[in-house]
Amino acid sequence: MSSDSGHDPEHPLFARVYDPVMSLPERLLLADHRAHLAEGLSGMVLDIGSGTGAMFPHYTTGSGMTVHGIEPDPHMRRQAVDRADGLDLDIEVVDAGAEDLPYPDNSIDAVVAVFVLCTVPSLVATLNELARVLRPGGQLRFLEHVRARGKIGRLHDLLAPGWFHAAGGCNLNRRTGDTLTGDHRFELFEYDRFESGLSRLLPLVRGRLERRRESAVPP
Ligand SMILES: C[S@@+](CC[C@H](N)C(=O)[O-])C[C@H]1O[C@@H](n2cnc3c(N)ncnc32)[C@H](O)[C@@H]1O
Repeated sequence: MSSDSGHDPEHPLFARVYDPVMSLPERLLLADHRAHLAEGLSGMVLDIGSGTGAMFPHYTTGSGMTVHGIEPDPHMRRQAVDRADGLDLDIEVVDAGAEDLPYPDNSIDAVVAVFVLCTVPSLVATLNELARVLRPGGQLRFLEHVRARGKIGRLHDLLAPGWFHAAGGCNLNRRTGDTLTGDHRFELFEYDRFESGLSRLLPLVRGRLERRRESAVPP
């Protein structure tokens, strides 16, 4: 079934292979990044594009922290619910897209985005929505793969159409880091680009942005 935007959120095969394909990179590379993103979170937290719930083991719900996973694909959602139940975590998994969130303005303390800003149909619409729901001082914490520089970047451009179909609508050559760091509604607190070793072929950006008060947004 397609959404109103014409974007199809359902990718049953991708959902089935996601955890098995990711298990090695998760252990070798991603677990430390995920732990870093989850450090010190509190209040009302949205894990957008929660997928199978790979971030869930890093959250400590209760004790002042509530997590909602936002996930439009029912095949992913089912696995996320199972993961939360298996870990005995009180995480609600919500059927929604990141560009249309069922939360009031300024109601969210933090948003966690891991490998989802590459996939949302519109990064601009998503950032508009995150800027709306995050309270002033609320954080957007992200880990995303981005287009490489030089020859590998040009290879990404060539592979992007096939990758899009194979990887659940993911844009291999999106310059997500540039868009995030250029959005003046957010103050940049932390930003790292990882482009060596395992990340040479698929560079990663990790960081924290903080929602500015409207009156503090530069013109
Ligand atoms: C590559 S998976 C990443 C899953 C998870 N965040 C992780 O760390 O493993 C991307 C997820 O984003 C979801 N997604 C796609 N479009 C979305 C949208 N517009 N809003 C929120 N999530 C979306 C997909 O269904 C998929 O589960």
